[in-house]
Amino acid sequence: MALLRSLESKPRYFGCQFNDLTLFNRSIVLLAFETSCDETAAAVVRNGRVLASVVSSQVKMHEEYGGVVPELAAREHIKNLLPVARQALTQAKVSVGNVDAIAATQGPGLPGALMIGLKAAQALAFYLRRPFLGIHHHEAHLYSPWLKGNPPAADFSAFEPNVSLIVSGGHTMLVHVESELKHRVLGSTVDDAAGECFDKTGKLLGLAYPAGPLIDRLALNGSPTRFDFPRPMISDPTDDFSFSGLKTSVRYFLRDHPEAAENSATLADLCASVQKAIVDVLVTKLIRAAKRLPVRCVTASGGVTCNRQFRKEIAETCSREGLQLRLADPMLCTDNAAMIGILAERKLRAGQAATNVDADILPAWQLG
Ligand code: KG4
Ligand code: ZN
Repeated sequence: MALLRSLESKPRYFGCQFNDLTLFNRSIVLLAFETSCDETAAAVVRNGRVLASVVSSQVKMHEEYGGVVPELAAREHIKNLLPVARQALTQAKVSVGNVDAIAATQGPGLPGALMIGLKAAQALAFYLRRPFLGIHHHEAHLYSPWLKGNPPAADFSAFEPNVSLIVSGGHTMLVHVESELKHRVLGSTVDDAAGECFDKTGKLLGLAYPAGPLIDRLALNGSPTRFDFPRPMISDPTDDFSFSGLKTSVRYFLRDHPEAAENSATLADLCASVQKAIVDVLVTKLIRAAKRLPVRCVTASGGVTCNRQFRKEIAETCSREGLQLRLADPMLCTDNAAMIGILAERKLRAGQAATNVDADILPAWQLG
């Protein structure tokens, strides 16, 4: 109740059942939450347009510990969720009583973190008597490359069957998106995610967490061919990935050359060489899957999609291979609630039943 009072004092009751989707033949306003890891996010979407997307990142807090501390993440979500939701509603010029549907990430993710966003969203939906949708975080990533413009709007009229790479600190996977809302996982990492490899390698090099953006920056002045690090599973016929061996080879290199990371030119070469190894694997496997299926389009999202070398290499390769490329906008690569809201609206309009307002979090929810 405090949740609602703090958003608006006078909610407008609406006479629809939780699963009464006839409502959605008209314009709808949807409020979405995302709290699966260390970003507290809320967004308001209307008819495929993102009216507001607010993200409060906890990255500074977790930096001190060299990674995300789940208990601290959950506490921060409790503190930040209402201010973030209020800001999103204010920016969108929407009052909470005019929200037609509510969505939140139901999984996968950190249990304590997921719980905050999901339960707040369900409580709000229950009180307002609006439909609620629990959304799969990775399924939402699949559609973020289709958001374009400022403010972003969904461009599904141009939808093409595609292979989508989701590449972040927690996940690296290839998904065949056969049509809208229909997908099949082709492969995923058997150990570390690509972002995790950036972060762990960075830690070995003495860089702060998360090291991905720093490695990206340092690599600009380095040589990608100076050190020959392995490209794990690059020739493996499956669509799976493995990155822990690459991190281990950097560890052995530093054991044998402890002075290497002290020299700024060598550090830049190390960053460029490790980055090139990761990017080569991602690009090679993404393109190979697309050509094998075949599809004419590839997409990518997740924090590592911000990486400049990745964006350059995948763009050059797609242009050479005649493939259409859609990369999520850097603002929408990392976790956000806009992608949750856009997918939820798509699902409601496609007639998907609402999720129960007492449904539980699904921390290990498998895509598909
Ligand atoms: O999607 P995201 O914000 O969160 C999850 O992990 O779910 O991704 C964060 C990850 C971190 O591992 C971070 O180091 C990596 O994305 N990352 C990058 C870059 N920007 C973020 N890695 C390489 N280059 C970047 N520019
Ligand atoms: Zn994510």
